[in-house]
Amino acid sequence: MEITVPGKVALVTGASRGIGLATALELARSGAKGVTITARKEETIAAARQEMVDAGIPEDAILAIAARADSEEDAGAAVGATVERFGSLDILINNAGTNPAFGNLMEVDLGALDKTWAVNMRAPLLWVRAAYEAWMGEHGGSVVNVASVAGIRPSALMGAYNVSKAGLIHLTRQLALELAPRIRVNAVAPGVVRTRLAGALLENEDMTARLHPLGRVGEPEDVSRLIVYLASDAASWMTGAIVPIDGGVVGASSSGIS
Ligand SMILES: NC(=O)c1ccc[n+]([C@@H]2O[C@H](COP(=O)([O-])OP(=O)(O)OC[C@H]3O[C@@H](n4cnc5c(N)ncnc54)[C@H](OP(=O)(O)O)[C@@H]3O)[C@@H](O)[C@H]2O)c1
Repeated sequence: MEITVPGKVALVTGASRGIGLATALELARSGAKGVTITARKEETIAAARQEMVDAGIPEDAILAIAARADSEEDAGAAVGATVERFGSLDILINNAGTNPAFGNLMEVDLGALDKTWAVNMRAPLLWVRAAYEAWMGEHGGSVVNVASVAGIRPSALMGAYNVSKAGLIHLTRQLALELAPRIRVNAVAPGVVRTRLAGALLENEDMTARLHPLGRVGEPEDVSRLIVYLASDAASWMTGAIVPIDGGVVGASSSGIS
């Protein structure tokens, strides 16, 4: 089945590279009328815009905006500019994420923990509120949050990140409840995907691949295709769903007990 989002307008946070850029490309190729891409810096988001143009996306279908995910002001401005430019905002992808707080929770730096929770857990709420205010509250829409298998299962040395993703998973369900039936809110929960964020886990890729029952790490496109499906009308009877896309880590791993 071909998944399309004809005539829809989408906004993707953290779209300068990795899963976010792949998702922006997938949305544009799937018929979106306009796609707004955001990340922190003018240069990186302009470079991403150029990558999309080089990939054949019409220039007038892309709006590139420098916006910090954890800034309420930036979220409001980016959402407002999107509605002004394209006439609506039907799809919001909360993809921006960070993981600077390495270590176990007993010793992790609290400043890094605050930053992680602000970007990964609080920011998606800010963007949903901005989208609700500017368009979705009246017209409806679809939100997809990028969580992680780390929000489903704990793991060593990533406690701050893991808790932020667990929070994002519950935020997804809470918003799905509060915003039904007009706005659907779902999340994807990827395993290790080949992006800059996963750099340390990819240093020994063979070992990381073996932790995934399907025997490889994910590519950004593995995840972007699922995001576009959840955002599209093909998923119109789904909300509050957390969908692992993880080479089998959650669904097909042994408990190790027997
Ligand atoms: N890769 C994995 O293995 C994996 C697994 C599970 C979940 N995820 C999740 O997937 C999402 C995308 O990550 P990725 O793997 O594609 O990593 P990535 O390639 O490093 O991309 C992260 C994106 O987030 C943006 N970003 C970071 N902090 C931001 C902030 N404060 N405000 C705005 N944008 C910000 C970055 O843009 P700038 O730096 O240009 O601002 C970049 O575009 C994240 O939520 C991550 O937690 C990744």
